[in-house]
Amino acid sequence: MKTTINQVKNYLNKEVTIGGWLANKRSSGKIAFLQLRDGTGFIQGVVVKAEVTEEVFTIAKGLSQESSVYVTGTIVEDTRSPFGYEMQVKNIEVIHEAVDYPITPKEHGTEFLMDHRHLWLRSKRQHAVMKIRNEIIRATYEFFNDNGFIKIDPPILTATSAEGTTDLFHTEYFDQEAYLSQSGQLYLEAAAMAFGKVFSFGPTFRAEKSKTRRHLIEFWMMEPEMAFVEHEESLEVQENYITYIAQSVLKNCELELKTLDRDLDKLKNIQAPFPRITYDEAIKILKEKGFDDIEWGDDFGAPHETAISEDFDKPVFITHYPAELKAFYMKPDPERPEVVLCADLIAPEGYGEIIGGSQRIDDFELMEERYQTHNLTGESYQWYLELRKYGSVPHSGFGVGLERTVAWFSGVKHVRETIPFPRLLNRLYP
Ligand code: 4AD
Ligand code: MG
Repeated sequence: MKTTINQVKNYLNKEVTIGGWLANKRSSGKIAFLQLRDGTGFIQGVVVKAEVTEEVFTIAKGLSQESSVYVTGTIVEDTRSPFGYEMQVKNIEVIHEAVDYPITPKEHGTEFLMDHRHLWLRSKRQHAVMKIRNEIIRATYEFFNDNGFIKIDPPILTATSAEGTTDLFHTEYFDQEAYLSQSGQLYLEAAAMAFGKVFSFGPTFRAEKSKTRRHLIEFWMMEPEMAFVEHEESLEVQENYITYIAQSVLKNCELELKTLDRDLDKLKNIQAPFPRITYDEAIKILKEKGFDDIEWGDDFGAPHETAISEDFDKPVFITHYPAELKAFYMKPDPERPEVVLCADLIAPEGYGEIIGGSQRIDDFELMEERYQTHNLTGESYQWYLELRKYGSVPHSGFGVGLERTVAWFSGVKHVRETIPFPRLLNRLYP
């Protein structure tokens, strides 16, 4: 019976065949332990010399790392392994022998591993991180579908910039100039006026010269946009969403979190409601913590965000930033127009800003004024202004960075390990 590793629990004490690769191996004169992987999981195959033909034992002893095989044997319980099962191997059929696999079980430097990302993805740790990424994506669709959102796919090639013009990727669009999308938000606002509650999930691009553990050039964003939803209501959606995906990962990625040695209490603690502080309060906290240079009107960098997050054991919303620090579309606080109705959600443990969101300007005249000050004179932005002309309503939305969320939930330090093929400042290979 042919099966996969994630299904072996259904074949206890039965003989099965698994197609897989040899991840690692240990052997002595009488016994060989094969660490096998098949994409769905990892299992140990035990080959006892006295119980197999001489030919099979010779194959087992000589098998090279990453060779592909069909292995046949009986599935038994193994209480010592976190997986819980192992295979008593009867037969091995070699499909293809791998020669000198470059990633050996010893330690390798990061650049070496990044150069071999097409192979590094096979490792147990990378496998666990990608499974957690997949669970977040699955739970995201589930959460938004269950809460009355419909998925809308904004374009990747655009003539507009949502988040400022400095870090856009330019490309030719026949005789026009186009950019790769920084955010689907402007299009999602149009869609929210057509469908009420919408969300997108897709790749976004930033030609940022940042070389930090939080920055990718190409990253994936979840972006909900909601008509008739104001600032404070949007924060409630955000904390409920983050709670939902965190608890889904805890429930469905037990083995992966164990592989990554993740502190589960940290994840169990991600439960709404999350604390909210204003930008003004954040400045006060920073001053108390010895950031003497910080002044009202300054933006926060990674050290500031980390220092603030240390005061809380949950993610924390920082709200009401100065308008001049934020994008042109954010709605000013009616009580205090120098600040906007926005929030950044800062994750604990130094993972930084996970979400950026705001209520949007819905007033035509005010948006026109913003167009002047931000020099959005081109024809490309006319359609967005028109949304304020035909039945404008209060609306809010936010963008969640997938890779930063994966890094946080997995306990992985750098976002380069949270996307299959990272695009970084110095890397377009593989
Ligand atoms: O704060 P940002 O720039 O917000 C927007 O783009 C809004 N238009 C979203 C919206 O309201 N619909 O980006 C949102 C999130 C950040 O909080 C961060 O998690 C992630 O996207 N992000 C990055 N992730 C990895 N690498 C980068 N270079 C990132 N830039 C932003
Ligand atoms: Mg932001």
